[in-house]
Amino acid sequence: MNSPARAVTMDKLTSLCKRRGFVYPSSEIYGGLASCWDYGPLGIELKRNITEAWWRENITARDDMVGLDSSILMHPKVWEASGHIEGFTDPLVDCKECKQRFRADQLEGDVCPACGGELTESRQFNLMFRTFMGPVEDSASTVYLRPETAQGIFVNFQNALNSSRMKIPFGVGQIGKSFRNEITPGNFLFRTREFEQMELEFFVKPGEDEKWHQYWKQERFDWYLRYGINRERLRLREHGSDELAHYAKGCADIEYEFPFGWSELEGIANRADFDLGQHKKVSGKDLSYFDEENRERFIPYVIEPSAGVGRPLLAFLVDAYDEDVVDGDERVVLRLDRRLAPVKVAIFPLLRKAGQPEKAHAVRDLLKHHFAVTYDQAGAIGRRYRRQDEIGTPYCITVDHQTMDDDTITLRDRDSMEQLRLPIDRLVEEIRTRLAAPPAAAGG
Ligand code: GAP
Repeated sequence: MNSPARAVTMDKLTSLCKRRGFVYPSSEIYGGLASCWDYGPLGIELKRNITEAWWRENITARDDMVGLDSSILMHPKVWEASGHIEGFTDPLVDCKECKQRFRADQLEGDVCPACGGELTESRQFNLMFRTFMGPVEDSASTVYLRPETAQGIFVNFQNALNSSRMKIPFGVGQIGKSFRNEITPGNFLFRTREFEQMELEFFVKPGEDEKWHQYWKQERFDWYLRYGINRERLRLREHGSDELAHYAKGCADIEYEFPFGWSELEGIANRADFDLGQHKKVSGKDLSYFDEENRERFIPYVIEPSAGVGRPLLAFLVDAYDEDVVDGDERVVLRLDRRLAPVKVAIFPLLRKAGQPEKAHAVRDLLKHHFAVTYDQAGAIGRRYRRQDEIGTPYCITVDHQTMDDDTITLRDRDSMEQLRLPIDRLVEEIRTRLAAPPAAAGG
């Protein structure tokens, strides 16, 4: 597939993220900690908008879904039952010369790619972080930081069923942190050792699983398109039988074309009855479902759309990044979907006198209870627009001479750059309508 050329590179994006407060290296004053990142003031707003969009569309706006927030530390038997203690491993090799470690399945030759040195035999390395619960550090007190949020849902299957009185098909979703001691993290937010996941487990009757698998593949693919990802840079890739995880009967990845190539954003797996079956066996608790209508009992099958948060966030940023020329000036503009943009409205006084700053503060006070807003009075108006374009702010409001006479302002659209004169008392309604409208109708 030929995709159009684009201005974005990972270097440009990571530097914008740092400079404007989307993402900082973790513990930077101590030199950083490999593959760990902190979300800054704009990053956290963007992240919240993404997770809220996911939660709203996959949980609260559906009749067949409920939410959950399970703990990160769980009983070690969970990981025995799930197969993670036995099978959540990557093949690892060490370089005998420079001591670097590599994933054996990602190496092209049989010598160290860094120094050409001899490599050790490959051995299996478990990706779960281990720690100890309580004051005694022995095998009896070993616990794991969860490597996926999914198991918190499986072990709560009966609780969620009983308390919500849902009937199959239904699902349970959760958003939370997961941890994996990745051998080769990298590509900025793409592969980290601590990350957030948005996972949902959809419980269905065996035999209806293929139908629901198709449904969720389409549903999740369309979600990315609805939030503005370019169709040409998104694809669904079915797994070959040799790549399936130990629990999966089938799986497809939603992939995005990052500057470093096509890579997974989300996996949609058919986990069959693997997890509930395993937890039933290991815990001895009955995790079956009784279908009242057909008077039959079964272990439900599970369809699992499982996304990270960092990867979609990175994809939204990469996809939105654009450079163009306005009035002879180059500008960087993040064409983020308006609902995801961290700041919705920037308010400027044209002059720093004549009562304009006070009026602009009053407009900010009016809007700040409805939208994420910012105020800026520093520098020429063109530069202020550029600063907002670079962080994806969809609307800029300018208070000028005329405002002081008739209480109207100008509203400028990030993408079309059109300016519209509007009375202040219509602003909340106008901006709300524009933010909710599909992109083309909202002025972009
Ligand atoms: N419960 C199934 C599961 O965890 P996965 O394919 O291993 O499946 C699901 O992970 C999603 O979690 C991935 O598609 C990716 O978005 C995110 N993810 C996994 N490992 C990650 C890592 N090391 N860094 C960032 N995101 C990661």
